[in-house]
Amino acid sequence: MNIILVAAECAPWIKTGGLGDVAGSLPKALARRGHRVMVVIPRYSNYDKLQDSGVRKTYRVDGQDIEVSYFQTYIDGVDFVFIESHVFRHLEKNIYGGNRLDILKRMVLFCKAVVEVPWHIPCGGACYGDGNLVFIANDWHTAMLPVYLKAYYRDNGLMKFTRSVLVIHNIAYQGRGPVDDFFHVDLPEHYIDNFRLYDPVGGEHFNIFAAGLKTADRIVTVSHGYAWELKTTEGGWGLQNIISENDWKFRGIVNGIDTREWSPEFDTHLTSDGYTNYTLETLQTGKPRCKAALQRELGLPVRDDVPVIAFIGRLDHQKGIDLIAEAIPWMMGQDVQLVMLGTGRPDLEDMLKQSQNQHKDKIRGLVGFSVKMAHRITSGADILLMPSRFEPCGLNQLYAMSYGTVPVVHAVGGLRDTVQQFDSFNESGLGWTFDSAESNKLIHALGNCILTYREYKQSWEGLQRRGMTQDLSWDNAAQNYEEVLVAAKYQW
Ligand code: GLC
Repeated sequence: MNIILVAAECAPWIKTGGLGDVAGSLPKALARRGHRVMVVIPRYSNYDKLQDSGVRKTYRVDGQDIEVSYFQTYIDGVDFVFIESHVFRHLEKNIYGGNRLDILKRMVLFCKAVVEVPWHIPCGGACYGDGNLVFIANDWHTAMLPVYLKAYYRDNGLMKFTRSVLVIHNIAYQGRGPVDDFFHVDLPEHYIDNFRLYDPVGGEHFNIFAAGLKTADRIVTVSHGYAWELKTTEGGWGLQNIISENDWKFRGIVNGIDTREWSPEFDTHLTSDGYTNYTLETLQTGKPRCKAALQRELGLPVRDDVPVIAFIGRLDHQKGIDLIAEAIPWMMGQDVQLVMLGTGRPDLEDMLKQSQNQHKDKIRGLVGFSVKMAHRITSGADILLMPSRFEPCGLNQLYAMSYGTVPVVHAVGGLRDTVQQFDSFNESGLGWTFDSAESNKLIHALGNCILTYREYKQSWEGLQRRGMTQDLSWDNAAQNYEEVLVAAKYQW
């Protein structure tokens, strides 16, 4: 099959969150299954080692002609294509920034250009054409793609064999605006109903995600738990009815992880500064070395007996970092160390810095986004906290488990799917879960986790081993995606 995955970000070039990881790794897993796979993203800056394809095209966006060119590279069986235009240039520090209409026009240009990529860009010597082709669009940023595919081509008998799948990574961002925004997206008048939505929060408004969900041939979301939540009033953020009505084409598939990039055995961030690579066999010596290296690097007391608790993530309401803040007074009464890494809301960034200042020998609040530190913390920490209020899939808990770091999570979305509660009678489970986003619930779960860490060494080792021996690779997920693509293709 010919597959084109389309996203606003893709690791390693540009990543603000899990979407970038997925766009960088799922395509490689699909290519390993024998498909011809391309990824298309905007070119936000001068990335190394890209070739100019020489192709130039002009697209009309909201009455203006904008020229685009196409750059490309080929890695691990996947063609990566970058769409270049002045509207994307220099956005690398803030790819979702700008005013509403600017963002909208960028996404319109991107999606218009992407639909035609299979005709214009020769990959491996030939264009894809529309034979046996399925697009995988991701989140609201590329949710216009299924709409354009239908309105410009399929409605007119063109690209008859091309299908589209839309993946929901996060329903909280939908591309909302006033109804008049419709007149900036260059579609036939009757398409307006696809975009028009009413909900008690936004009133009557224009909604790009809604139109994408209606027009895509299939919809996927990144876990089973989230697939269920999306159909509820609390979890659907206004789109629950559309999702329920389209249940026949909707499916949850839990993300995998890139096991080359995230494996304690091959992690290139663990080869210096006292860190070390380790495996299941060398866990008992390797992980303590990483822990000591982390404590040293962060200037914390180097002690093996104290549990190191970590948080890595965006500092916002979704990730529940405020629940950790509320739990800090309790935590500081315990003999623990707490390491937090992230960027986001200024008040939460201040909270990180202040708590470090107040507890210099116990807390590190690192404000910033550092891939290297994320890897090192994952290796050196004993416990990872993820009190997310909602979490479509979550990748950090998967990374943690594969490094023998035990997760304590709020049981929602993908966290509920991937972290089974520890059961001391049967010595089963992978971590601790709590069932509502409240700091006293977090404290209760974390308290039990710390107790097990201190008093029940064998149980702890069992938790680590079970976490590390799971198959978290993309292989399973890629097979499930393949089923969805085939179903889209043949309209089962
Ligand atoms: C979004 C979600 C996160 C998910 C990621 C990749 O960032 O918030 O839960 O893991 O997308 O699908």
